[in-house]
Amino acid sequence: MTEIFSGSFTQQEPIPDEAIEAALAVLRHGRLHRYNLAKGELGETALLEQEFAAQTGARYCLAVASGGYALATALRAVGVKPGDAVLTNAFTLAPVPGAIASVGARPVFVGVTESLTIDLDDLAAKAGVARVLMLSHMRGHLCDMDRLMQICDAAGITVIEDCAHTMGAAWNGVPSGRQGAVGCYSCQTYKHVNSGEGGLLVTDDEEIAARAVMMSGSYMLYERHLAAPGPEVFERIKYHTPNISGRMDNLRAAILRPQLRALATQVARWNERYQRIEAGLRGTPGLSVIERPDVETYVGSSIQFLLLDWVAEKVQEALRRCAARGVELKWFGTPEPVGFTSRYDSWRYADSAPMPASDRVLAGIIDMRVPLTFSLEDCDLIARIIRAEVGAVYQS
Ligand SMILES: Cc1ncc(COP(=O)(O)O)c(C=O)c1O
Repeated sequence: MTEIFSGSFTQQEPIPDEAIEAALAVLRHGRLHRYNLAKGELGETALLEQEFAAQTGARYCLAVASGGYALATALRAVGVKPGDAVLTNAFTLAPVPGAIASVGARPVFVGVTESLTIDLDDLAAKAGVARVLMLSHMRGHLCDMDRLMQICDAAGITVIEDCAHTMGAAWNGVPSGRQGAVGCYSCQTYKHVNSGEGGLLVTDDEEIAARAVMMSGSYMLYERHLAAPGPEVFERIKYHTPNISGRMDNLRAAILRPQLRALATQVARWNERYQRIEAGLRGTPGLSVIERPDVETYVGSSIQFLLLDWVAEKVQEALRRCAARGVELKWFGTPEPVGFTSRYDSWRYADSAPMPASDRVLAGIIDMRVPLTFSLEDCDLIARIIRAEVGAVYQS
């Protein structure tokens, strides 16, 4: 009998009851705008920022409308100007070069290795062309952060970390987002906490924090923040920093606070599922799993593997066969951007020189979501299906 998987790859878990109760309380009092507070009230958004700063060990935190908004705000706050070059990953998703383009800057792409992380030799070679790196921890893979920071520090490059896929991850015990000058996170439905849309930005730099708060649309009400610098810092920047509204609201903050408290538990559940799928795939002919370094604490909310040096038609055939059995796989080698999958040369607003070594890797990357609604048995079944279909196509 042919096994079929009938689950959904896009179905996240429901919002926890505690978060629903908190949301209802906000709806009942009606003060959804973050600065609309009753006497003595601190507000869900300010509390969320205070808690996330404590959770990541950051001095400052700002909650905003989306992860992409956090990225663009970070670029502006570190002083990126129209026309500037900004280094970034060739293997990432559209919101990353999009954030760079949104401030009028130019993405300069850095290659990807077979570990699916940024190519540090390529980064070192390109270090002279820009003074900012927007580092995307794409699909949760952390590069050797110690070496990356050495390269960037030596070249005077400011690092902004895109942690859309690494909330809850760490390198050598340091939470992802805490090695660069700024860490940016997404709270969009497919990420590690879910408020539909939303973003968080953390930093230890008081001027970056103050500029970000002003830009997000603080209407000079920055004293209502609990994880922002003191008023003397705002005095220095407030006349020179434009308002580019993109605030978080109290309803979404209320939904997020209980989810952040449960993050470590959720990470463990993701990793159980990831490891079941990885174990089931390991040893499949023609397929390489991505080995994770011991010093990386990852969050297995998605899994990738490589069909390296396969011809495109065979990859497509394997994907078709898996899809026919209910297993949805995404391919980064597709010539046209599809859904959430796109490549550096599909962003035609950004010039890019060909990168043959990266093209070879991208042409082999297969990507799959691992929602927590999957049971461990679902994970075993999915791995069996991929193993059988990939193996069959490879052997043909
Ligand atoms: C790698 C990466 N960076 C940034 C973002 C931006 O997040 P948001 O959708 O919250 O703007 C995403 C969202 O999909 C992403 O995948």
